[in-house]
Amino acid sequence: MFFGENKMTSEIPKFYAVPMKKRLALLRRFAGLSKKELETLSHNSALEHKLADMMIENVVGTMQIPLGVATHFKVNGRDYLVPMAIEESSVVAAASHAAKLARSANGFKTESTEPHMIGQIQLMGVKNPAAAKRKILAKKGEIKNLVENQDSMLKKAGGGLKDVEVRTLKSRRGNIVVAHLIVDVRDAMGANAVNSYCELIAPYLEEITGGRSVLKIISNLAVKRMVKVNATWKKELLGEDLIEGILDAYEFASVDPYRAATHNKGIMNGVDSVIIATGNDWRAVESGAHAYASISGKYIPLTSYEKNKRGDLVGKLEMPLALGLVGGATRIHPVARIALKILDVKNANELAEVAASVGLANNFAALRAMAKEGIRKGHMKLHAHNIAMIAGAHPDEADIVAKRMIDEGDITAGRAQIILHHVRKEQRKKKIKSIVKKVKKKIKRKRGNKRR
Ligand code: MEV
Repeated sequence: MFFGENKMTSEIPKFYAVPMKKRLALLRRFAGLSKKELETLSHNSALEHKLADMMIENVVGTMQIPLGVATHFKVNGRDYLVPMAIEESSVVAAASHAAKLARSANGFKTESTEPHMIGQIQLMGVKNPAAAKRKILAKKGEIKNLVENQDSMLKKAGGGLKDVEVRTLKSRRGNIVVAHLIVDVRDAMGANAVNSYCELIAPYLEEITGGRSVLKIISNLAVKRMVKVNATWKKELLGEDLIEGILDAYEFASVDPYRAATHNKGIMNGVDSVIIATGNDWRAVESGAHAYASISGKYIPLTSYEKNKRGDLVGKLEMPLALGLVGGATRIHPVARIALKILDVKNANELAEVAASVGLANNFAALRAMAKEGIRKGHMKLHAHNIAMIAGAHPDEADIVAKRMIDEGDITAGRAQIILHHVRKEQRKKKIKSIVKKVKKKIKRKRGNKRR
C-alpha cells in the first residue's frame, strides 16, 4: 500500500476490516490530513460511528447537513411541520412561505396510487418473444402461487404480487422479453422485496420461455406509485402581474428541456430534503422523477400551472414517489426516526404526499421569486450572505454585512471582513452609548429623589 518515500496507493486490502481508528490514521497519511481535520472526522454526530459503520463500508466519519423544519404546511386539511435536510440556504424558508400563501385556499390537496412497484426480469435468447409473452401471461396464477408459498409476510401486511406484465424489446444483442412483476410493497420503499420476488420467479420464467434470465431488479421508474398534488394561490395575494409572470416562466420550462431541468431541480430541492431527512433513498426518487419527466420522449416539467375561473394560480405536481417507513435507514438513522415522529404519517403514501407538497411549494416559490425580483438579485443576496458567514459573521450580522456589500457592489470575503469589523465596532459603540444613557438616567433619577 506504500510506494516511493511516503506516498500511498489507494490499494488498501481489507480496509473494511481495519478498526475505525486505524482507518482514520491510514486516511490521514494518504490525504495529508491535519490533526484538526482528523478530529473533525472523528467527531461523533447524532449518527454514531458505531452505527454508521454498520450501515456502509469503509466508514471514516459522518457527513452532517443542516436539518430544518418547514412551517405553515397544510396537506389535505392536516397541519404538518416538515423536516427538511439540505445544505442550500433559502429552500426551507421558500417552502414555508409558499405553504403560508397556499393556506388561504386550504393548502395542498393530494392523491396517490397504491404503493405498487415494478420488478423487471430480463430474458434473453427467447426464440419466439410473442409466444413467450402469451405463456408468461397465461401462468400468472402459478407465478403468484410461487411467490406466496415463499413469502407470505407482504401478503399478511396487505401487499404482495398483484400482477404480471410482459414487454418485448429489440436490442443489438437480440430480442429481450421483459417480465414486470407488479408488487404491492405497502410501507416499504420496496427494493428488497421486489428484487427477491424477481430472483424467485426468474428460473420459472426461464423454464416456460426457454430464455436465459439476466437482470432481476426493481425499476426506479415507479409509474405505478404516483403522487398528485395541487394547490391554489389566490390572486389577491399574488397580484395579476405576478401570476402572468409565473405562467410565462412555466411556459418556458414546458417548451425547453434546458429550462425544464432547472425547473425540476427546484421541485427536487423540496422533495429530496424531505426524503433525506426521513432516511429514504433520494437517488431512486431522482432517477424515477427525471425518467418520468421524459417518458413522452421529451423532457418536460413535473409541475404545471394555470389560472382558474377566479383568476387564481393553480399549481399541480405529478410524479412517481417510492418512499418507505420501514427498511433502509428510515428505522436505523436516529435523526430519520425523529423526523418521522415529527411528521407522524400513518403510511408511506402519506409521507410521499407531504414530500410532493413540499416539491410543489419549492417550485412555486422559485418561479415566484424569479418572476418577482429576478433570481439574480435573490441569488446575489444569498451569495453575499454566505460570504459574510464565511468571513465570520453571526447570522444577525450577516444580513447587515451582505446588504452593505451589495450596496457597494463588492461581494468578497476581504470586503466582508472589513465591513464586519466596522459593524462590530458600531455595535460596540451603540451598546456603550446605551449603557451610558441608562447610567445617566439612573443618576438623574437618584439626584431628583435626593432633592425631594
Ligand atoms: C435553485 O436551487 C433552484 C432554482 O434554480 C429553481 C428554478 O430555477 O426554478 C431557483
